[in-house]
Amino acid sequence: MKVAIIYFSPCGSTRKVANLISDEFSKHNWEIQMLDMTKDKNIFPNGNVDKFLEGIETHDLLLVGGPIYIDQLHYNVLNLIKKLPQADGIKYSKDAAVFTTFGKITSGVGSSQAAIALKLTGRNNWAALEVDSEHCIARNTPYHISTGLPGEEVITLVAELVSYLVKVVSSESRPIDDVESKLVGRFDDFPHLTDEQVVTKSSFPKIKFNYDLCKKCLLCVKKCPVNYLVVKDGYPTVSPIDSCVHCTNCLYYCPTGAVIMDMNYQETFYRKKLKEQKLEPDGPSISKLILAD
Ligand SMILES: Cc1cc2nc3c(=O)[nH]c(=O)nc-3n(C[C@H](O)[C@H](O)[C@H](O)COP(=O)(O)O)c2cc1C
Ligand code: SF4
Ligand code: SF4
Repeated sequence: MKVAIIYFSPCGSTRKVANLISDEFSKHNWEIQMLDMTKDKNIFPNGNVDKFLEGIETHDLLLVGGPIYIDQLHYNVLNLIKKLPQADGIKYSKDAAVFTTFGKITSGVGSSQAAIALKLTGRNNWAALEVDSEHCIARNTPYHISTGLPGEEVITLVAELVSYLVKVVSSESRPIDDVESKLVGRFDDFPHLTDEQVVTKSSFPKIKFNYDLCKKCLLCVKKCPVNYLVVKDGYPTVSPIDSCVHCTNCLYYCPTGAVIMDMNYQETFYRKKLKEQKLEPDGPSISKLILAD
């Protein structure tokens, strides 16, 4: 049996979960194909997913993972799901599952979006794992959120997810309903759904450099998950296509403070959101596993 695991992980939490899932499948003696979208030269910054998708090998189960940005599954992941080849039940299995990571504020509608999009490609989504993880923007403010997560606490959930999927895929029959109805039902009263791409592009600050402080170490370029930062005359600069996802890696890793981004607005925003939900920034993990049945 073989599982294909596609994921996008600008800051590394989704990759941690993908690796845990992969380790768990190996315990069941499954073959694994890991397909990491992050930094993929075909996809970023040009947005061409075709070459990447051609690399998907024959599999018995497909897992797709990505971060939650503005209550939603990251648009790069959702766009990729929409372009997946139709499941034929031979090369591309009809069995699928999704995993997301979020920075405690909310796992939002990411899993249900993925389930709906997967269905349109002929796949049934049997499970959704939503993992409370370090909030990558909050790394850059004094108000850290979910520091150290995902950690060992998620191992039990991953084991449960994988043994459930192994059981479903190895069986002759399938659950009557996929997980979509459970996921969509959870969000009947979800407040108005914003367009994540519009919000991030219009409200998030643009990256700027203070070249007087820059030591030309190019760590920012290396850590940019979408190849938006490039090198010109030895210095980092932005590429003409705006593929920035506002992950704040460049800000976080720059050793000299040469990357400039104003974090005040974000910090006030998520302080307010956590308070509304009576959540502590470094409180216990609120990860969840939802199974079809
Ligand atoms: C632009 C942006 C928007 C985000 N929006 C949310 C959100 O709505 N809810 C939340 O809980 N976390 C939010 N996060 C935090 C990420 O979901 C979290 O850090 C995630 O684990 C990142 O995954 P990665 O490490 O694989 O990149 C956001 C992060 C960024 C950069
Ligand atoms: S990480 Fe900072 S110091 Fe290094 S190249 Fe980028 S901006 Fe310059
Ligand atoms: S430019 Fe900075 S914030 Fe934008 S995607 Fe690259 S590393 Fe992330």
